[in-house]
Amino acid sequence: MTTSPRPDARSRPVPRQLLPDTAETDGDGSLLIGGCRVVDLAEEFGTPLLVYDEAHLRARCQEAIAAFDGKVAYASKAFLCRAMAKLAYEEGMSIDVATGGEYGIARAAGVPAASLVFHGNNKSGVELNMALRDGVGRVVVDSFDELDRIEALVADGAPAPRVLIRVNPGIEVHTLDEVATGVPDSKFGFPLAAGDAERALARAGGSGAMELVGTHIHIGSQVFSAANFADALATLGPTVRGWGLDEFVVGGGLGVPYVTGEEAPTITQWAAGIRRACDELGITAAVSAEPGRSIAAAAGITVYRVGTIKEIEGVRTYVAVDGGMSDNPRPVLYGSGYETFLPRSVAAERPRTITLVGKHCESGDKLVVDGAVPDDLMVGDVIATPVTGAYGQSMGSNYNKVLRPPVVFVADGDARLVVRRETLEDLLATDLG
Ligand code: LLP
Repeated sequence: MTTSPRPDARSRPVPRQLLPDTAETDGDGSLLIGGCRVVDLAEEFGTPLLVYDEAHLRARCQEAIAAFDGKVAYASKAFLCRAMAKLAYEEGMSIDVATGGEYGIARAAGVPAASLVFHGNNKSGVELNMALRDGVGRVVVDSFDELDRIEALVADGAPAPRVLIRVNPGIEVHTLDEVATGVPDSKFGFPLAAGDAERALARAGGSGAMELVGTHIHIGSQVFSAANFADALATLGPTVRGWGLDEFVVGGGLGVPYVTGEEAPTITQWAAGIRRACDELGITAAVSAEPGRSIAAAAGITVYRVGTIKEIEGVRTYVAVDGGMSDNPRPVLYGSGYETFLPRSVAAERPRTITLVGKHCESGDKLVVDGAVPDDLMVGDVIATPVTGAYGQSMGSNYNKVLRPPVVFVADGDARLVVRRETLEDLLATDLG
């Protein structure tokens, strides 16, 4: 459950639970992740920089695999590059992809098509054709038009896919409107109440162009409430039981703490609640999930360098860094909160209140409003925001033609560059003049 922080809690050092698993402090108070000093990483790779704790990523994948009996797909929209797809696959996960682009990156990482689950509310004929001909593991069907498209492709010689029908339970979900999907007014899935879900299941089940293997729901993202998941399962229970299909996918959506005072269930606790609910409902299908945020978010931190500090008397102090809404659009899009800390003194008290902003030509380009920092923050400091491993890099942009930052994976004292910094040549590569 989310709890409100104490009024003074934000001036305390950044909470340990918001940092990656292997975070530790050096003799001089400096932060190490994966045995690497973060301030040294900033020197070596430049800033902004995304640092991922590889052990943390692997531990969350292993936790999910254990909690769901080996049946988990990593939701790659949270964070995807070849190294990440490879890591999740090595840990035994299949990969949930929602576009041809995500599909292509996962395939380029060496993930077999059979281990991919193809999502999306508007898959194109080209995307479906590629997936079917490659022998994609599962297609999660989202509309009657998609059923038409699959039938046409199979009539044209593509192999018949294994499909799940995505059902929209139409329940109340406690999260931001932008990321709630299992609500009555949603573009995703076949609505249950209107009978569309039953019609879709009947059509897929009776079609020679596909093998219907299961049902799927995903109620939304950054959900803390176990009751929301239980409601969704209860709503869908009779349909799942009635069809007696082999597979039931409960989606992703488990929330994570971003700021002081927030708490969320672990993946193990989340899975236990889902299993209990399924048992009580008499659901015998194999239950699997597709977490994204709970795997990647807390594994990553973003490291910036402070360029200017502007104290506006009686208003606020703006601390501007060399990134911004192009590397983390979540604060602008959703009003999401983050913490700030100085990797050179990670355990320091943070009595000073500042607003961390980026370098984009837009007043709304705020990374952290009323963030807490130590008193001695100065221009040139390396400053970091934790829990930026999910939906930051993946939703990043080139706004103002800012070059996207590199990604390093750190483990056992080694830093491995897995995505290099963009260059002006990269920007010009698609610009034909
Ligand atoms: N499965 C499906 C079908 C999904 O649509 C999603 C996320 C997931 C699984 C993974 O959900 P997760 O475990 O990561 O919550 N950009 C937003 C989040 C959008 C989520 C989209 N779908 C944000 O930054 O909060």
